[in-house]
Amino acid sequence: MIVNSILETIGHTPLLFVPLRGGEVSLYIKLEMFNPTGSMKDRMALSMIDSRPAKRNQHTDDIVESSSGNTASALAMISAVRKINFTALMDSHASPDKVLTVRAFGSKVQIVGGDDGLLATDMRDREAMRKSMEEGAYWTEQHNNPANARGYVGLAAELLEDLGPTITHFVCAIGTGGSLCGCARQLRMHIPELEVIGVEPVGSIIFGGQGGPYHQSGTGTPEGADVGMVIDYDVINSGRKVTDDMAFSVCHYLAKRHGLLVGGSTGGAIHEALSVARQAPIGSRIVTLACDSGTKYLDTIFDPEWLLSHGIQTVDVEEHFGDLIDNMPVAAHR
Ligand SMILES: Cc1ncc(COP(=O)(O)O)c(C=O)c1O
Repeated sequence: MIVNSILETIGHTPLLFVPLRGGEVSLYIKLEMFNPTGSMKDRMALSMIDSRPAKRNQHTDDIVESSSGNTASALAMISAVRKINFTALMDSHASPDKVLTVRAFGSKVQIVGGDDGLLATDMRDREAMRKSMEEGAYWTEQHNNPANARGYVGLAAELLEDLGPTITHFVCAIGTGGSLCGCARQLRMHIPELEVIGVEPVGSIIFGGQGGPYHQSGTGTPEGADVGMVIDYDVINSGRKVTDDMAFSVCHYLAKRHGLLVGGSTGGAIHEALSVARQAPIGSRIVTLACDSGTKYLDTIFDPEWLLSHGIQTVDVEEHFGDLIDNMPVAAHR
């Protein structure tokens, strides 16, 4: 495929078919790590940039966003192509790789936030910093920008193109809610009875409950941070919570047994998709998203020393889900 811009390689990602319960239930994993910066966020970043208001200043086209992860990388990549000056406000715990990625695309990084290890505190600091930078720059405001959710209309269209209106469940990690709600709203227009399930880490407060620390990157909302307007509770049937232990165990299992390297939020979503599959009626078709690639987390969730120092205890996933995934027939997608 010849393309004229890297932006043309956003979307049209593969869909991995995984038969479960001896073929009674089908799981489909949309491999969003095939987007150019390795996550689904390329879709929403393009949508937010292309729907930004006209330049306030005729000499510069500046945007700013508070993100320590995939959104920052995606905005930086698109800004390079669109000749926009992008500044990423990143917290002091942002991984060096993420900082270097943003800089590699020619964007600026401003490190903000305290050093007390509390995610919520860092987020508040980032918001304070945002206010001081607001002048002159456009804040893409991913948590409250409808263009975030609109960025996933194409993803839903791809799912419908591949599977038609046969999807029974859509299970997805939830942070800003852009991918879950944007996709689900679109799918519901064709599948009114679709069951939509959001997955957040234990310790995140999107679906209520006790706040606390967690290490599934990019997903959830820590205590003290606002749940943004992009999360549309009306489109979600239920919310589920997953521990870091189980989410990362699934990541290890997928890498070692299926050659599929995914990040922690995807491990969590797939863990819950497997739980849903256990109860689902015969013939169910469950779709989930691989939000990003595990290559971004080699020195954290795939590093035994890091796991040990963070008190994370992984388990044998096959023991928990053996009845679902054992003796999996080598079946072709039907
Ligand atoms: C790796 C990862 N997983 C899940 C999410 C949550 O996605 P959304 O913000 O669309 O709810 C994000 C968002 O940044 C992410 O980077």
